Amino acid sequence: MDEKFVVTPWEVKGEIDYDKLVKEFGTQKLDEKLLKRLEKHTGPLHHLLRRRIFFSHRDLDKFLDEYEKGNRGFLYTGRGPSGSTHLGHLVPWMMTRWLQQKLGLKLYFQMTDDEKYLFKEGLELEQATQYALENALDVIALGFEPEELRILIDTQMAGAMYPEAIKVAKRLTFSTAKAAFGFTNEHNVGEIFYTSMQAVPAFLPSIPAGRPLPCLIPLAIDQDPHFRVARDIIPKLGYPKPCILHARFLPGLQGAGGKMSTSAGDADTQVIFTTDNAKTVKEKVNKYAFSGGKDTVEEHRKAGGDPDVDVAYQYLLFFEEDDAKLKKIHDDYRAGKLLSGEMKAILIETLNRFLGEHQRKREEARKRLHEYLATPDEFRPKGKH
Ligand code: TYM
Repeated sequence: MDEKFVVTPWEVKGEIDYDKLVKEFGTQKLDEKLLKRLEKHTGPLHHLLRRRIFFSHRDLDKFLDEYEKGNRGFLYTGRGPSGSTHLGHLVPWMMTRWLQQKLGLKLYFQMTDDEKYLFKEGLELEQATQYALENALDVIALGFEPEELRILIDTQMAGAMYPEAIKVAKRLTFSTAKAAFGFTNEHNVGEIFYTSMQAVPAFLPSIPAGRPLPCLIPLAIDQDPHFRVARDIIPKLGYPKPCILHARFLPGLQGAGGKMSTSAGDADTQVIFTTDNAKTVKEKVNKYAFSGGKDTVEEHRKAGGDPDVDVAYQYLLFFEEDDAKLKKIHDDYRAGKLLSGEMKAILIETLNRFLGEHQRKREEARKRLHEYLATPDEFRPKGKH
C-alpha cells in the first residue's frame, strides 16, 4: 500500500504513513522515557498517550525542563470554524483538557474565523464568526472554567493580535510561505498572510505576564507546518519556540486513510458531529462504518475479523478508556467470537453515552459563553491600561 499520501493544514488524504511523516516533518517520536517523565507530573497517562494516538512532538522535553524549574507556561490550541464540530476535532481538545488539569496550566484557544473566511469558498465572514461561537461550546463542554480557558476569536481580538501578527509577517518571506504551504499565484494574499495570525497565541500570553512563557500546543499533525514556520520566527521576537504534541487522525467513517473531515465528500457518510442525536449516530455507524469483518458469519467465526481496519474498533481506541475492556474486544474480534454488528453496537453505545453527556454540558455552556471570550484588554503589557 505505497500510494502517495498528503498531509497539509488544508488537505489530508491517502493511507498515512506516520513514521514517514515524522521524518518528513522533522519531528520526534514520543518515547517511553519522555512519557515516563511526563507521567511524574500528571499521574497515570491519558489513554490517547498510552495508545500513542499522540505519537510525536517537538521539544516536549524542553517544555518539561522549564516546568520542572517552576517556569510553567501555558497551553495553546485552536479551531478553524467552518462548520459544526465533529469527533475528530475533540481528539486534541480532550488531550488539552487533560494536560490543563494535570499540569495546572491555562489554555488559550484560537478561533480562526479569518482563516476559514479566507480559505473556504462561499463562506461569509459573519457566518465563520457565528460558527466560532457554536464551536466554542464544544470546547467549554470539556469542563473548563473561565479562568482556565480563554477563547480568542481572531476578528474580535484584532486589537491585541494584529500588532503581533505583523511582527511575524515582517520576518516571513513569500518564498518560505510557498515552500511550507505550496502557495501559487492563484492564492489570495490573505491566505498567504494567515499563518502569521496562527503564530500569535503561541507568544501573546507572555505580553501581560511581562516575561517570556513556555508554550505547549497539542494538535493533530496536519497543523504542524504553521508552527514549523513560526518556530523559526518567534525566537526573533524574544519568545521561546513553542513546543508541540502531535496526534494521529481519527479516520472518517468509511476509513481508507485520511481523516474525519467535512471537506472529504459527503459529510454525512464520513463524519459524526458532536450534536448528532443517538438515532443518527446509530444509523451512521451501522450504515457507513467500514467493517474489518468477513462477508458471512460462518467465515467470520472461522477466520476472525481485522480490528486494524475496522473503523468501529479504531474509534474505540479513541473513545473507550478501559484498556482491559478494549483488549477483550480486540481479541474476541480477531478470534471470530465477536461479530462486526456486535462491534458496531459496542461503539454506538460508547459514543452515545459520551455524546449524551457532552450535549448536556454543551447546552449549559451556552449560558456562560461570554465569560470565556477573551478581550484585547487582557493582553496589554503589564502595568499598562
Ligand atoms: P481545524 O478546525 O481544521 O481542526 C481543529 C483541530 O482538530 C484537529 N483535527 C483532527 N484531529 C484528529 N482527527 C481528525 N480527524 C481531525 N480533524 C481535525 C486539527 O489538527 C486541529 O488541531 N488552523 C486550525 C485552527 C488553529 C489551530 C491553532 C489548531 C488555530 N490555531 C493551534 C491547532 C493549534 C484549523 O483550521 O483547525
